Parts: sequence; structure tokens; C-alpha cells
Amino acid sequence: MIEYLQKQNVDNKLIEKLEKYRKENGLFDDPRVIKPEFKYYGKEVLEESISALLAGKNILLTGAKATGKNVLAENLSYLFARPSWNVSFHVNTDFSSLIGADTFKDNQVTFRKGPIYEASTRGGFAVLDEINMAKNEAISVLHASLDHRRIIDLPGYEKIKLDPNTRFIATMNYGYVGTREVNEALASRFMIIHMPNITKENLDKLLADTFTKLKEEYRKAFIDMFISLQFKSENNEISTKSVDLRGLISAIETMQIGLNPYDAILMGIANKSFDEFEREIVIDTIKTKIPSQIKESIFND
Ligand SMILES: Nc1ncnc2c1ncn2[C@@H]1O[C@H](COP(=O)(O)OP(=O)(O)O)[C@@H](O)[C@H]1O
Ligand SMILES: [Mg+2]
Repeated sequence: MIEYLQKQNVDNKLIEKLEKYRKENGLFDDPRVIKPEFKYYGKEVLEESISALLAGKNILLTGAKATGKNVLAENLSYLFARPSWNVSFHVNTDFSSLIGADTFKDNQVTFRKGPIYEASTRGGFAVLDEINMAKNEAISVLHASLDHRRIIDLPGYEKIKLDPNTRFIATMNYGYVGTREVNEALASRFMIIHMPNITKENLDKLLADTFTKLKEEYRKAFIDMFISLQFKSENNEISTKSVDLRGLISAIETMQIGLNPYDAILMGIANKSFDEFEREIVIDTIKTKIPSQIKESIFND
């Protein structure tokens, strides 16, 4: 993992500080320290997030869908060798789903620990996923944990101090219906990172790394196509609906089963635009990069 940071040209001094942290605090045997499936590519974002976490701060990752927010959070938990808990926020998120609740067991009241409680006491990283989807009342129970007080205030119990290694990594999407802004009280408790769109170079690394057998000429064609769509959306010619990296990855996975690449791309990308006019622009862009029929295999065996 450290090697991967060096390959990304992450500042050497920062890598040294992270290594020192890991040596002193890493929980390498904890079963909740999980090696991520995908690596996150993006030097600046890695440097910013690692620095803030080393400084003891919590971070909020904001950005469009599929900018790698969750992938980054998983990578950070692993890089810091911390056990991690992931909590998806939604309208019904409440105190008991976050922190826990009294339950009856063998005729006794015991406290069932929720994910925030666990992460707080075990020096974990808690990923507060799509935090803007929860009601403000639910989030306000976390205020004392997120700011300098670093405690959980459990009514009826003693206040619980957070482990010094505990960090919170929140994510939020913006730009589509149903997303809300976070309020100032919440935002002030985080260092905030705006997640950029992936660069051409990093997309190349990502695809080469994920699909080792994909022939280079096709990898380049998919990258060209995706970057053109991203460019069109940055210039407001199309919405972000079809600029879906998750969709591109799913499409290539479907090609591995044997589906014709063009058809797979329609399913993963173009068909996400439900507006006919926009879908036509998307399909035209795809057609300039990907032939509608490819006879040979796009993978080396
Ligand atoms: N900068 C990046 N580095 C690595 N993977 C990325 C990056 N940006 C997007 N991805 C890929 O996009 C997909 C969605 O990532 P995810 O973290 O779930 O996005 P988000 O949480 O921002 O919606 C994953 O397959 C991931 O590998
Ligand atoms: Mg996400």
C-alpha cells in the first residue's frame, strides 16, 4: 500500500509520517481492517486527506457520483490500519441506529452498541455515507463526537470518550434530485475535500489495474469516450447522468462475459440518460470512439 502511494507521487515526508503513525498505532490483526478492492487514484486528494487525518481532523468528501468517495474512504481506513464501520445515512437514521439502544437480554437491560459507538471506542474509522440524506436531528447526536469534545453523550449512561485514533469520514453527493445540503453546524466540524473528476492518466491506471487482460487499444478507446463525455458534461452540453464511471466499469465487466462492447456501453452509460435529446448526443459521442460491432475479442487470453 505504501508503494502505491509512492507510485502516485505522494509527498515522501507525508508517507514517512503515515508510516510512523502505522508503526505506533496500526491494528494490523483486526479483522475489520480490510484491504480495499480498488485503489484510489489522485495524488492531491490523497495528500489532503492523509494530512487532515494525521492532524486528527475529520473529513467530508463531497462530489458528484462515482468520483471515488467510498473507494477513497476504504483506502484511507486501510492505509491508517484502522478497523472501519460504514453507516449509510437515510431519512430513518436515528440515535439507535448510529449509537445504539437498550435491549432486553436474559431479563436484563443491556446496551446494544451501534456502529458509531464501536468505532468511537475501538479507534475505528467511521464512514458516514451520504450524510446529507439524514435528518438534521439524527446528525446532531453526533455533534459532540465530531468536534473538540470528542465524546458520545449517552443519556442515562456516563459520557464516553472517543479513542484518540477514531476519525469520521463523511461523504455527500450533490447534483441530483433528493440530495440536500449539509448545514453549517455540521460542515464546520469537518475539513472538506471536493472530489475532482478523474483525470485521463488516472483513469488509464485504474482500468489497466482493474482489467489486466483488456487490450490496450480498447482501453484507450474507452478512456477517450469517457473523457469526452466528462468534458461535455463539464461544459454543460449534457448532464452528469451518463458520465458514470461505475457504469463504465460494469460495462467492461459485462464485456468479459462476452457481450458486444458497444451494447454493453449503451447499458452502462448511454441508457442512463432518459432525455432523448441528451441520449442522442451521448450515443453520437460513443459512436465516434467505439465501433458498433467488434468481431475480435477485446481481451488477451
Ligand atoms: N479517482 C478514482 N480512483 C479510483 N477509482 C475511482 C476514482 N473515481 C472513481 N472511481 C471508481 O468509480 C467507482 C465508484 O466509486 P465510489 O467510491 O463508489 O464513488 P462515490 O462514492 O463517489 O459515488 C468505483 O468503481 C471506483 O473504482
Ligand atoms: Mg458513494
